[in-house]
Amino acid sequence: SVTHKIEHLKSAVYEDQLPEHDLPEVAFIGRSNVGKSSLIKAILGEAPEARVRVSKTPGHTKVLNFFTVGKQLCLVDMPGYGFHMPEHYEKSVEGFLSSRKKLSRVIFLVDGTVGVTPTDVTGLNMMEEMSLPYIIVLTKIDKSKPAVLLKNFMSVRKYIDQLPACLQQPFLVSSLTGEGVELLQAFIAHVTGH
Ligand code: GTP
Ligand code: MG
Repeated sequence: SVTHKIEHLKSAVYEDQLPEHDLPEVAFIGRSNVGKSSLIKAILGEAPEARVRVSKTPGHTKVLNFFTVGKQLCLVDMPGYGFHMPEHYEKSVEGFLSSRKKLSRVIFLVDGTVGVTPTDVTGLNMMEEMSLPYIIVLTKIDKSKPAVLLKNFMSVRKYIDQLPACLQQPFLVSSLTGEGVELLQAFIAHVTGH
């Protein structure tokens, strides 16, 4: 796990509220309830200062939350899109995605127990339009039988062929068991230059 000092740097909604810093950023985006906050929490470990908030209710994260890891990088937890989207979602998220100069990667989460949904497709199209580098991570892999997970993995693989801005290989993680989290941490360290 991460041994650097974790800080909840800031919460923000609109572009003029975004924090100014020099650290490379990695942002987590996806449908509400897909597991964004849980994954950030798993990556950051048990640091109490991080106070990453997870909830059983979809639409929990309403604002952009910035977490710094020492002087190395900054992880950004985003509100979920889809049915439970906050009113300011588009302005907030598009403002963020289009204005950050040090955004190293976007991590696009897809629920591994469900596979690619029409709502995910809308989000993926937005990512392609913005042509930011991103990867797909399948979440909650502890919850599915291997055959179901494989089917959902294959549906993502098939869809990725139509997504030029997406790195070809999806990651698989469980924030509950920690499976796949270290590999994703290594990837994040790699793309942010550590
Ligand atoms: P919003 O902020 O509402 O957009 O949701 P989110 O994407 O941040 O999801 P969050 O991390 O709050 O998790 C939603 C629910 O899924 C919670 O009940 C979590 O406990 C559960 N969950 C998240 N990750 C996992 C996982 O890896 N395995 C299992 N079994 N449950 C998970
Ligand atoms: Mg959340």
